[in-house]
Parts: sequence; structure tokens; C-alpha cells
Amino acid sequence: MNQAAQYAESHFPEFLEKLKTLVRIPSVSFAGFSEAEVRRSAVAVSELLRTEGLENVEVLTIEGAHPYVYGDWLHAPGKPTLLLYAHHDVQPPGREELWNSAPFEPTEKDGRLFGRGSADDKAGIIVHTSAIASYLRTEGKLPVNIKVLIEGEEEIGSGHLDTFLKQYRSKMSADVIVLTDTANFDTGIPTITTSLRGIAVTEVEVRSLKQPVHSGMWGGPAPDPVMALSKMISSLVDDDGRIAIPGIYDKIRRLSKKETESMLSLGYTEADYRKQAGILPSVQLIAGDASPLEKLFRLPSLSVNAIQASSRKNASNIINESAWARISIRIVPDMDPHQTLKSLQTFLKSVAPWGVEVHFSGEQTGDWWVTDPSGPAFEKAEEALSRAFGKKCVFLGQGGSIPFVAPFAQVLGGVPALLIGVEDPYTNAHSENESVHLEDLRKSIVGAVYLYEAFAK
Ligand code: BES
Ligand code: MN
Repeated sequence: MNQAAQYAESHFPEFLEKLKTLVRIPSVSFAGFSEAEVRRSAVAVSELLRTEGLENVEVLTIEGAHPYVYGDWLHAPGKPTLLLYAHHDVQPPGREELWNSAPFEPTEKDGRLFGRGSADDKAGIIVHTSAIASYLRTEGKLPVNIKVLIEGEEEIGSGHLDTFLKQYRSKMSADVIVLTDTANFDTGIPTITTSLRGIAVTEVEVRSLKQPVHSGMWGGPAPDPVMALSKMISSLVDDDGRIAIPGIYDKIRRLSKKETESMLSLGYTEADYRKQAGILPSVQLIAGDASPLEKLFRLPSLSVNAIQASSRKNASNIINESAWARISIRIVPDMDPHQTLKSLQTFLKSVAPWGVEVHFSGEQTGDWWVTDPSGPAFEKAEEALSRAFGKKCVFLGQGGSIPFVAPFAQVLGGVPALLIGVEDPYTNAHSENESVHLEDLRKSIVGAVYLYEAFAK
């Protein structure tokens, strides 16, 4: 073990305190939440970068976007430059009453730290800043050049990425990108992510009346917009839960032999999936015969994320004037995000009954990403992570999305992107009671220490 790795191990409690400080800031990037808190989070992140020894630290602003944070250390001439990425914005807390501890009060329990952003993705920030500090406080220098970029709008789809890249591209040049924002195959199993799904999102509102009306006085002739929307939504899938939008499965790239073998070697079963996802006992798995892993990362999936018409509190004998839903499709290689969005909207419109009005808003897209994990960057990462975790590193595609990856890797001239992370199947990201496994966080920091060392050679 090098000095820096020893430092990382013995000073882990201090690094954990720094994670807690970040978690206490409710940096929710969603509309309707305080932008000032996201700015406060950016300032806290920039202070952390400075304390841990990074230079040229600044908050990078773009008109209309939540702030990014940048810092670098570029004193290793002749050595490669690593661009390290994480994001400091978080998901909304969800239903506060379902949290066992307050979402923004970091709480340790059963070897995990609970709190919104404790894993996704404030842990990702801490992995890198702690590895950097461990070198600078022991050896006084880093074995490689490092640029750190912490995004502020990842959870809302990185809408200003194009502008960001135009404005800051030259500042970002690097030989390899390392992102800490993905999940491990299981607790204690280091994992390098080889593909991500993309996404196409739309909100849809169906209207049939000028205002809600008494369901006894007016009910009968009037089309119920909730019923209309329900019919439209149910048309989106067939009886087996496969997506029924024409052409949706046409452009899917088949898994290569190597990818299939790598996937099968993990021995992941339907029972594993059921347990980890929390599927209720009587509930069947849908969408065909493909294995759960293939369905998660190489097949599209459609979800109705939210649906609204009146509310539980106001439920009364009325016909609603309108009904609303947010619908999204996770897309895979080689589907086109814009085409998918268009097909979804066109299809919804084509199945709308009774001449109801259909209005779309809130559109969002993000591209999928896939890489061939061969070459020196992946070999070095595999070795570094396996060493830190004491377990063989796994290569795996994942179902989540990070819109940043595809365009960024491309703008930097196709440099390798290493996707590693500290989430595990029990993290509950985007749900209540999000948490990070403390032992895995510590191992991830040590893994980053070894990774920088490996890249210096
Ligand atoms: N960290 C996740 C993405 C992720 C999680 C990738 C686990 C692979 C494994 C990220 O913060 C996230 O949730 N992204 C959003 C992106 C969306 C807003 C475009 C997502 O996937 O919903
Ligand atoms: Mn994330």
C-alpha cells in the first residue's frame, strides 16, 4: 500500500464528515426548489476542492443553468491528465414521512450513511477529493495531472451541456475521463460501467372541459379526461408489457458475443432482480423472455413517472377538466432520442379518444452511451479497483442515464471514459432512504488513489 492509500484509510472518518457537510445542503436542481441552495452547494464544493489542495478553483456559470464547479492540479509534466466528473445536484426528497431519518440530516445506521445525495452523487465528489487530499498531504504531489468538474444540473437532464461544451471545451481537454456516478453490481464488488441507457421524456395533458363539473349533474355525455388519458397510457404497452409504439424495437443493436458472455458470466437471476428491485411476491416480471440484465441495459423501457388529476385530498364527485402524466422511455444503442420522443408523442396523439385536446410539454432527451472496455485505461482501472476492494472487478452495462458522457467523450476526441461509482443495489437512489455503504465508500477512495498511481505508469 502506498502512503496515500494508508492516509485514505486512516483518515476516512474525516472524509466522511466532509460528505455529511455536503449532504446537509438540499441542492435539489428541480424547478420549484430553491436555486439558492444549489448555488450554496456549488460554493461548498468549491471550498472543499480548495481545502483538499486543488488550484484554480472556480464556480463556472452559464446563463440559466445551475452552477458547475471546476478545479485542477497540473504539476505532473509528461504525465497524463485525468478529468474527474461528479454532480452536486440531487433529486427531490420525495415523501418526507417515508424517510426513517430526515433526508438532509446525514445519519449513520447499519454501516451505511443515509441522506439525499449521500450516494448520488455527493459520494462521487468525495471519492475524488479524498484521493487527491491523500496524495497532497503525504507525498505533497499527485502522480498525474488532474482536472475536476462537478456538474449542477445532472438530475434534470444536463440541459445546458451544449452551451457548456462550447464555452469551456478547451479548459476540459484530458487524456481520460473518470466519472464517479454509477452503481456497483453488488455491495463490495467493484464495477466498471460499459454502457448507459439514454432517455426521452414528455409530459402530456388531456383536456375535455373548461372546468371541473358536478359528476351527477353533468356525468354521462361528457368524456372524462382521466379515462381518456388512461386509455392512451394503456395503449403504450401490449398484454405482456412490451412497448406497443410502432417501430420502437427496430433500431436496437444486438449484444455482441463478447457482451453476451460478459453478461452471462455474472450469473444474475430473476430472483436476484426481484429481491433487489423489491418486486412484490405475486407480481410477474414482464416484457418478454430476455434476461433481467439485458432488459435493464440493452432494451428500452417505458415508465409513467407521475400522474395527476385532482388529488386524494380533493377527491369528490366531479368530472375533472384535465388529466396529466409524465412519461419516459429509456433508450438503448442505436435508438435515436429525438425520434423516440417524436414517436411517443405521435402515438399518444393518435390513440386519444373522443376528440379530447392533447398538449405536450416538459420534453427532455439524453443519449445512450456504450464503450468497448479494452485497452490500457480499462486494464489499469480494473487492476486498481480489484486491488482496493480485494474482489475481482466486474464489467457491466447499466440502465441509468448520464447525458454528459456521450457528448463529452466525443468533444474530447473520443478519449476513454471510465465510469465507476459507489452506489449498490441497496442505495435506493431517487427513492426515499437513499444511502451509501460506508465500507464501499472507503474502498472507492482507496481505489481512486490506486487509479491515479496506475495512470502515472
Ligand atoms: N447516477 C445516476 C445515473 C446512474 C445510476 C447510472 C446508476 C448508472 C447506474 C444519475 O444521477 C441519474 O439518475 N441520471 C438521470 C439522468 C436523467 C435526468 C437524464 C437518470 O438516469 O434518471
Ligand atoms: Mn447521479
